[in-house]
Amino acid sequence: MKILVAYFSHEGMNYVDGKIVPLSVGNTEIIAKEIAGLISGDLFAIRTLEPYPYDYKECVKTAVSELKADARPALANTIDVTPYDAIVLGYPNWCGTMPMPVKTFLCGADLSGKVIVPFCSNEGSGMGVSEKDIAKLCPKAILKKGISIHGKDFDETALKNRLETIFADK
Ligand SMILES: Cc1cc2nc3c(=O)[nH]c(=O)nc-3n(C[C@H](O)[C@H](O)[C@H](O)COP(=O)(O)O)c2cc1C
Repeated sequence: MKILVAYFSHEGMNYVDGKIVPLSVGNTEIIAKEIAGLISGDLFAIRTLEPYPYDYKECVKTAVSELKADARPALANTIDVTPYDAIVLGYPNWCGTMPMPVKTFLCGADLSGKVIVPFCSNEGSGMGVSEKDIAKLCPKAILKKGISIHGKDFDETALKNRLETIFADK
């Protein structure tokens, strides 16, 4: 099975354990790289043409207005997903769902018949409504239950077992 680990992650000031701290590498990026190694997947970073603000509050403002507008921010890069059987899709929880560029990615890719395994780094909101959003945007994909991760705190063995179970099930 050929697997793509596609993720969006935000470098900059972020909300971690009740404090605003700088993250030079985003949590989702760290997890995505780990997962790609665990399951021998290819990595793809979903990037926007217009970078998000470094400042946390400014970034939240932008995220809220994009969510309200159901925006599809333009991406700086694309990938042909045709060769892949499964996409492990990573993103932070932004305002209760995935950041809107992840929706742009999903809308631009034909994921019919492909397995999607979402994982979401968050500070307490879990997957939010992101799985419902994926199901709406990709009705013909085979959507697996998502993996919620607090920040970048994951147990490598548990994560590996979980992914192996998901893919063995396919
Ligand atoms: C714009 C924005 C909105 C966020 N909204 C939520 C939220 O609704 N619930 C939550 O648990 N965490 C929220 N967070 C925190 C992030 O999900 C969390 O810090 C995550 O680990 C960041 O991943 P990243 O470093 O890969 O971007 C938000 C962070 C940002 C920047």
